[in-house]
Amino acid sequence: MARLEAGTAGGGKELRTILITGASSGIGAHCARALKTDGWRVLATARRPEDLAALEADGIEAFYLDYTEPASIERLVADVLGRTGGRLDALFNNGAYAQAGAVEDLSVAALKAQFEANFFGWHDLTSRIVPTMRRQGQGRIVHCSSILGITPVMYRGAYASSKFALEGLMLCMRAELQGSGIAVSMIEPGPVKSKIASNGLPWFLKNIDYGKSAHREAYSAQLARLRAGGSVSRFKPGPEVVYAALRHALLSPRPRPHYVVTVPARIGVLLKRFLPAALFYRLLASRA
Ligand SMILES: NC(=O)c1ccc[n+]([C@@H]2O[C@H](COP(=O)([O-])OP(=O)(O)OC[C@H]3O[C@@H](n4cnc5c(N)ncnc54)[C@H](OP(=O)(O)O)[C@@H]3O)[C@@H](O)[C@H]2O)c1
Repeated sequence: MARLEAGTAGGGKELRTILITGASSGIGAHCARALKTDGWRVLATARRPEDLAALEADGIEAFYLDYTEPASIERLVADVLGRTGGRLDALFNNGAYAQAGAVEDLSVAALKAQFEANFFGWHDLTSRIVPTMRRQGQGRIVHCSSILGITPVMYRGAYASSKFALEGLMLCMRAELQGSGIAVSMIEPGPVKSKIASNGLPWFLKNIDYGKSAHREAYSAQLARLRAGGSVSRFKPGPEVVYAALRHALLSPRPRPHYVVTVPARIGVLLKRFLPAALFYRLLASRA
């Protein structure tokens, strides 16, 4: 596996380059700036003009991307590679949202919308970047998955299934890229401070007819969680914990396939590994 040397793009004098998506808030906003501070050339995406301007103000090259608009993915890749002279050392797929709601209350349209943003868009962007990395003989692809892509919990069926699908797709790609010099890693965070809950609220309100649902009582807790900006816990760190994993995935000579981040996520993985399945799923069903 070719190693990216610190401060260079594969041994040249140029800065290492990374494309990171969903950099308007939360994990993406933090990692874009941390990478810039650490000496990377950072190309990052957002959707609102004010978020693009904030990135540019911090020395980050900002581009519009909405994963649900295939034309924006095609344009992004052309613009980014045009800027870098056809090189890209790393891709961090990160931008996503979380559709909450019981599976029986999810319309096919709501589920498709979740997959367009969290799954098909990521596949499209990744596939368009791989040929460049193959030509280079090296590259790092890191996906921000989720612990919910390993341990599903109630009322997160749309989001969890998009991350389960991502795990399956990208771990196959990881195997297929053996010998190419391109490494693929999945980061699986547990709860991390960001806007993911508040950004998920409009999707819940739009797509879930919660007053008529068999789950309407449980939904009051879901609504409270989304309105409060997510769960409150002393085990909920900031996005810097994801950056530590990202850094390892980008720089280590042996990037890991999985980075399980946060204490609750690690506990979840251990319980899944060691508990009998029926007990494990009963435990998950006691949490919402
Ligand atoms: N925070 C957690 O607890 C947690 C846990 C596990 C995994 N994750 C994962 O971490 C990643 C980042 O989420 P976050 O927690 O930092 O949440 P966040 O603060 O809500 O940030 C999400 C980012 O994704 C962007 N985005 C949403 N839909 C998009 C689309 N269709 N096309 C392009 N960009 C889109 C958002 O842009 P706009 O501002 O324009 O909407 C925003 O920049 C996600 O992949 C999420 O699944 C988060």
